[in-house]
Amino acid sequence: MNLQFPQHFLWGGAIAANQVEGAYRQDGKGLSSSDVQPHGIFGEIIDRDVETITSIKDKAIDFYHRYPEDIALFAEMGFNCLRVSIAWTRIFPNGDEPQPNEAGLAFYDTLFDEMAKYHITPLVTLSHYEMPYHLIKHYGGWGNRQLIEFFNRYAKVVFERYQHKVKYWLTFNEINMSLHEPFTGVGLARESSKQAIYQAIHHQLVASSKAVKACHEIIPDAKIGNMLLGALTYPLTPKPDDVLATLQENHTWLWFGDVQARGEYPGYMKRFFKENNIQLTITEDDRQSLNTTVDFISFSYYMSACATAEDKDKLKGNILDMVPNPYLKSSEWGWQIDPKGIRILLNLLHERYQKPLFIVENGLGAIDKIDENGHINDDYRIQYLHDHLVQVGEAIADGVDVMGYTSWGPIDLISASKAEITKRYGFIYVDLNQDGSGTLKRIKKKSFSWYQSVIKTNGQHLNRKV
Ligand code: BG6
Repeated sequence: MNLQFPQHFLWGGAIAANQVEGAYRQDGKGLSSSDVQPHGIFGEIIDRDVETITSIKDKAIDFYHRYPEDIALFAEMGFNCLRVSIAWTRIFPNGDEPQPNEAGLAFYDTLFDEMAKYHITPLVTLSHYEMPYHLIKHYGGWGNRQLIEFFNRYAKVVFERYQHKVKYWLTFNEINMSLHEPFTGVGLARESSKQAIYQAIHHQLVASSKAVKACHEIIPDAKIGNMLLGALTYPLTPKPDDVLATLQENHTWLWFGDVQARGEYPGYMKRFFKENNIQLTITEDDRQSLNTTVDFISFSYYMSACATAEDKDKLKGNILDMVPNPYLKSSEWGWQIDPKGIRILLNLLHERYQKPLFIVENGLGAIDKIDENGHINDDYRIQYLHDHLVQVGEAIADGVDVMGYTSWGPIDLISASKAEITKRYGFIYVDLNQDGSGTLKRIKKKSFSWYQSVIKTNGQHLNRKV
């Protein structure tokens, strides 16, 4: 079929402060949860107030200084949207100060101004896998109710400051990942009890809904969404027990969306809390806050998984462990590639929430090689993105309201799970090696001109085979 994308479709890429900016203590920036995970989310937590160590993320791809060049390259590809995140620790270095750090605020002013030069619409995540480490060390992370107030202060400051520059916002990146990596998600130790993790998540959900309210009050013409790790799960077999296990598996992540889009905990979660003896402290004010729901649903999608009622070995995927699907191939990192899954997921979320959807992360992490002519022929990436975008087009034809698509890591960046630069997602190569050496020179890959054609034709280019 001839794919058609809506006229004002937002096309672009997505990056996160802690994976690109570097400049990790510059201009008053405080230490963040990401800074104390020098080897990524799956690695050790090292208190950098006490131990002197370095991380590849300290410099990353030096976006903090090189953003004009990078934004110009994104503009050349035709981006009309760029998802970035604000590092909370640039604005409130410790998280509990009464006043923000002006140098941090000024940095994002210049970044948004640079994007405006090229008519690139910013989509801004308030917290993408980082929070002030001070709030973890001295307050106990999101386990402490006071975090709601600190986050609210931060959110209001940035809404006020950028109200004329930013009209699309997201609250917490992949808010549903805290059940799997609680330190990154809510600043709690990995061995914390379920009770503690769910209570911390509750505080974060309340903070998210308060941010939605504040955003509507301060920037009435803005739209603010949530952000879910799209963990689409299929039954391994048609056995009713496997189908039930799949429903329950999907509930473990969809419930976050249910709270954020419908304004209250779903019945199956109330049952889960009861049966697992989890007693959440939920105040009347919390309940009222949760009633403020998001304007749109955003999500990441890299892979799908299977579920079964039987005991099976699991693969480590994107944060989650998963039962592999025997019908799918995997990436070099063992992530199972399932383009049709994005169409299925878009339909599922559309039917469930009846809100606009935004795909804010999707892409292929791969090892790229520069050939003898200095070219990077990343046909595998073109294939992956083409196949997924075709399915996005199919979902649009199914009647799903899709606002836009920002592919993950349009320029190579430091991976989140293991802080690797060898795992590259970009249309733009960055000359940086895992040991930190390299010129940081930017080189266009083959996929650069392919994505440029896709955007230029508003998706028509996808009607051609790759
Ligand atoms: C998502 C995160 O989970 O996956 C990103 O929001 C992350 O921050 C992306 O980079 C890909 O994961 P990784 O580990 O390959 O960087």
